[in-house]
Amino acid sequence: MRSRLRPLIFVAVSLHATVVAAPLATDAENVAELTAEARVVAAELHQQIAGELTREYAISGNLRSIVVCKYTAPELTSAVSRQHGAQVRRVTLRARNPALGTADSWEQGHLLAFERRRAAGEEIATLEAAAVVDEPAARYFRYIKAIEADRLCVNCHGPELSLSAATRKRLADEYPHDRAIGYRAGDMLGAISYKKALPETSP
Ligand code: HEC
Repeated sequence: MRSRLRPLIFVAVSLHATVVAAPLATDAENVAELTAEARVVAAELHQQIAGELTREYAISGNLRSIVVCKYTAPELTSAVSRQHGAQVRRVTLRARNPALGTADSWEQGHLLAFERRRAAGEEIATLEAAAVVDEPAARYFRYIKAIEADRLCVNCHGPELSLSAATRKRLADEYPHDRAIGYRAGDMLGAISYKKALPETSP
């Protein structure tokens, strides 16, 4: 179990200068545990949003589902974050709702790295990273995992000309600066990000 997580920790450490330079064994242990928890929480948020969308989509189709995405996705995001004492959200390099979905610099670095790894042939399901990061306000455990677009997603995130005219109009009305289109099933469509403050440790 521990050995499976080592490459992940190594990648995180090698990519980020802000990461604690040489984690002690106990830190590595903590990162493994925190990563396991973050994976579960990220999957939970993704499943809740996708489940809600699939249900609404089956009942009322695309236009009403846009509303589900607009109001229900942020609500689910807040609820899951509160429940787990962490900030969990969906982020991307090209947001539909820039206020909620724009990646910060740590997330952007990983999204770009994920895109390169994807282009080199890695499976989206394996694209994840974890690290302990010192920020001015606190020390955080951070985790990020890529999301793969499926056929449902491309109804609202597909190439512009593949969207129905009604969907295009609704999206343009609601999101005049929408940059979250152009995806095909099998593309990486953003990521779930998890961020949890760590207790202060004595120097
Ligand atoms: C019915 C239309 C619809 C479908 C289907 C849909 N989305 Fe979205 N998506 C939206 C809308 C609308 C938003 C903006 C939500 C908001 O205002 O916060 C959004 C936002 C997002 C975001 C947050 C970042 C951003 O761009 O604001 C991600 C990530 C995302 N969608 C991924 C997906 C994935 C993955 C799927 C398939 C499982 C999917 N979406 C299916 C409409 C849709």
